Amino acid sequence: SRRALLGWGGAGLALGAAAAGGAVAAVTGGGDATATAAASGAAVPFHGTHQAGVATAVQDRLHFASFDVKTGDRAELVRLLKDWTRAAERMTAGQAVGEGAYGGLAEAPPDDTGEALGLKPSRLTLTVGFGPSVFDARFGLRERRPAALVELPAFKGDNLDPARSGGDLCVQACADDPQVAVHAIRNLARIGFGKVAVRWSQLGFGKTSSTTPEEQTPRNMMGFKDGTRNISGTDTAALDEHVWVSGKDGPAWLAGGSYLVARRIRMNVETWDRTPLQEQEDIFGRDKGEGAPVGRARERDEPFLPAMLPTAHVRLAHPDSNGGARMLRRGYSFTDGTDGLGRLDAGLFFLAYQRDVAKGFVPVQRSLAASDVLNEYIQHVGSALYAIPPGVRDEDDWWGRALFS
Ligand code: HEM
Repeated sequence: SRRALLGWGGAGLALGAAAAGGAVAAVTGGGDATATAAASGAAVPFHGTHQAGVATAVQDRLHFASFDVKTGDRAELVRLLKDWTRAAERMTAGQAVGEGAYGGLAEAPPDDTGEALGLKPSRLTLTVGFGPSVFDARFGLRERRPAALVELPAFKGDNLDPARSGGDLCVQACADDPQVAVHAIRNLARIGFGKVAVRWSQLGFGKTSSTTPEEQTPRNMMGFKDGTRNISGTDTAALDEHVWVSGKDGPAWLAGGSYLVARRIRMNVETWDRTPLQEQEDIFGRDKGEGAPVGRARERDEPFLPAMLPTAHVRLAHPDSNGGARMLRRGYSFTDGTDGLGRLDAGLFFLAYQRDVAKGFVPVQRSLAASDVLNEYIQHVGSALYAIPPGVRDEDDWWGRALFS
């Protein structure tokens, strides 16, 4: 029964599988490509039509950084984007930046900070985005601003901290090894010294959304499976319809790109942990053990919305409640110490990619902000929006080339 699933035996097994990560899945999954790649620490190809790190099977760890551009010189920003691209090509292949951590001149600092030496590529992906503020007067990009790249509206219940919001550029680093992800952001920040400064950054663990339906769905900090009805990274029809910007949508430079919404969502886990199981399940509209929608038996069964509370999270977030709105969720859990009041500063760092925020995040978040019963336990404390340019095609291409050409 459900209780048995949540008992020690079930939980122990689940934890064991999670701890061993892809290795277990690789053994039991019958040659599943993602799991095998994760276990082997493989590299994800950097070049392509789309940037890696969006449809890519979600890695275990995140280091996300939002940067302010400090230089007012367009040529200097372009130079930086080129340097970042070359460094990213190397790091995603498991190589050190430049001459490495002990190449070059003894009297100069090494090109690479060194802490990823000897580590595998760990499926590192680096994904760059441009915030609305980069299209202001500074770099002559006003005409290039996508009409769809408008600041997000204020939502009911928002308690946004400006120090954890916005930014001119972002880099999302995802990898199965946290040291690899942190190393990548650190080295990009180092290369950008004097031209960009980190505005805010976020570490994440325990991916909270799966883009690989064939794998076990991960659980969020509330203990529920998260990502069951996400867009699969191999569903090219859904990706084209809901995630990738097409040549017809907006500026030509963004074709093959996407839009990213980042929200730091604090969870009041202590209150949640005192909430009865039945209430927790009613809030989501799914059961905790299996993840099945109310009245259904299995996780992947179609949700029957009328059986759920009108204020249940899944009912309100479902495409049928929002004019068909869908997005690709790619968030991570975070626990950043305590809040000084004896509570964990924990939650969900929500990341969602979509073709048009006005038809993705905005209508869904409007529904959720208005009546989701989950709101009693969560608060949005950070927010950012970025245009995600298309992929870097080859060694001569660079992040944002079409935007600056
Ligand atoms: C579904 C948790 C915030 C959009 C779900 C599910 C869970 C969950 C457990 C069910 C499993 C699944 O289909 O993935 C949470 C938590 C949140 C949160 C704990 C905040 C801390 C958000 C936000 C959005 C969102 C901010 C977008 C504005 C969705 C969507 C679904 C979903 C689109 C799938 C609905 C469906 O098609 O059935 N969420 N979520 N969630 N959530 Fe959230």
